[in-house]
Amino acid sequence: MNTTLDRMALGEIAVLLPGASAIFRRYGMDFCCGGDVLLAEAVKEPGVALEQIVAELRALDQSAPRAYPEEPGALIDHILERYHETHRRELPELIRLAEKVERVHASHPDVPAGLAEALRTAAYELETHMMKEEAVLFPMMRLGTHTGIAHPIQRMRIEHDDHGERLREIERLYRNGVLPAEACGSWRALYAGVRKLADDLMQHIHLENNVLFPQFATELPALPICPGMVMPAKQID
Ligand SMILES: [Fe+2]
Ligand SMILES: [Fe+2]
Repeated sequence: MNTTLDRMALGEIAVLLPGASAIFRRYGMDFCCGGDVLLAEAVKEPGVALEQIVAELRALDQSAPRAYPEEPGALIDHILERYHETHRRELPELIRLAEKVERVHASHPDVPAGLAEALRTAAYELETHMMKEEAVLFPMMRLGTHTGIAHPIQRMRIEHDDHGERLREIERLYRNGVLPAEACGSWRALYAGVRKLADDLMQHIHLENNVLFPQFATELPALPICPGMVMPAKQID
């Protein structure tokens, strides 16, 4: 396995090796939405030496227990408790802290202007997305339904990409957590909370995209040919 790591996809490695996701996160590599990118390709953007990251991955204990169950019902329970409920509990406080920091330090050159609004948008979009999973997709999965499940899975994958885009904007606004030396307690608590949100959200999406969804039929059925849509043959005068 070790000799082929560079030809494996990030999501695949994150599933196979407990601890790999923390390494990818440290190097700013997207293992959840960009989980199908091969390691040899993914190292190019952050400019990490392939040999260095392969060595770090090889040093991981492959037999270490995973922090999540793989059976769909148990994994859905884990996702709901560990991620959906955590996002709902923590995001309102992060928005409150961001509003406070932006207001109190409005004239500071490093103030994360726009962060509260970006977090509000992320919270709204996440809530809408999680409600769809809880009301439609997860109940289908608990029933073992495979027929007709490819479309809702595809929809959720597209929404995960959108969450990833919003997360990148949040990380830009909070300067990847780099604090000014004189930052107050609220500012420090805000950045620590945003970092945790980013880590949680990436792991949440990774578990759905790379562990849960592949256990179900993900091939979209071919579209039926509609006779009304067939273009008429060109008339030759
Ligand atoms: Fe989810
Ligand atoms: Fe999701």
